[in-house]
Amino acid sequence: MDEPSGTPAPPDGDDMDGLRLRTKGRLDPVDLRTDRPHPARVYDYLLGGKDNFPADRSAAERGLGKAPGLRDLARANRAFLTRVVRAAVEAGVRQFIDLGTGIPTSPNVHEVAGGHTPGARVVYVDNDPIVATHARALLTSAGDTAFLLADLRDTKAILDSPETRALIDFDEPVAVLCVALLHHIPDEADPRGIIERLTGAVAPGSLLALSHLGADLAPAQAAAISAGAAQDGVTLIPRDRETVSALFTGLDVLEPGLVPVPLWRPDTPVWDDEVARTWIYGGMAVKP
Ligand SMILES: C[S@@+](CC[C@H](N)C(=O)[O-])C[C@H]1O[C@@H](n2cnc3c(N)ncnc32)[C@H](O)[C@@H]1O
Repeated sequence: MDEPSGTPAPPDGDDMDGLRLRTKGRLDPVDLRTDRPHPARVYDYLLGGKDNFPADRSAAERGLGKAPGLRDLARANRAFLTRVVRAAVEAGVRQFIDLGTGIPTSPNVHEVAGGHTPGARVVYVDNDPIVATHARALLTSAGDTAFLLADLRDTKAILDSPETRALIDFDEPVAVLCVALLHHIPDEADPRGIIERLTGAVAPGSLLALSHLGADLAPAQAAAISAGAAQDGVTLIPRDRETVSALFTGLDVLEPGLVPVPLWRPDTPVWDDEVARTWIYGGMAVKP
């Protein structure tokens, strides 16, 4: 696969040691922009992961100063991802395109899907070369999975890639996952147009699941986090419920609708303070 221009080829090591070696050696750390925070690595730090750098940790700590519940938010979002994958399998869907995969965090999509059905197929997509390194090593070692280093905005590259075409049967329903991703896409890149191109390509019965930081759920925290991210060079745009709902235009939104993620088909009772800390909407819709 051709890498997007300007993006360094990811190292092809198969473990963290390989990454460290190559980060010190063949790959210039500046090429991987480890000197700057990156959404995947900041999120990894919030989730308690180890695949992050000082710039990511500093950014996350600054974020926690403005929104102390960010760790809970990240964990609740990850739990939402698990529940939507399970719900997709229960709806009979066996193939997944996981956009904005992030650094592998167990249980990953193929692990959740594979735990509920044999033969699940997953294409993972992210634009971070470090995610690519970990994902190629960890996510594609078992079952029918592939990783694609691509930008969400280039939907044609994602839909037409050999990886996608090898695993996804576009005549059958597919679950398109955009979990904690679209708030990294600025308005001028037309998030709604991106979703329309993706959902336009998949068969009826396909599912779109997304989560998105909610500007109206915690306005002061959302504004502070967004402004802080902008200072770090990271696009982070919480949007209000109406704007996020519009991403589902043309699709049938499934129960319980677009809600703070802890309230999306919870497995256990949900406390009010948990919802208050978790200012991120989640929902799933089906293509009629
Ligand atoms: C907050 S993480 C979410 C990870 C995972 N989806 C989850 O919810 O647990 C956002 C991910 O989106 C990726 N991302 C951001 N902008 C992207 C873009 N334009 N194209 C592809 N991936 C992108 C980041 O690299 C990061 O891994």
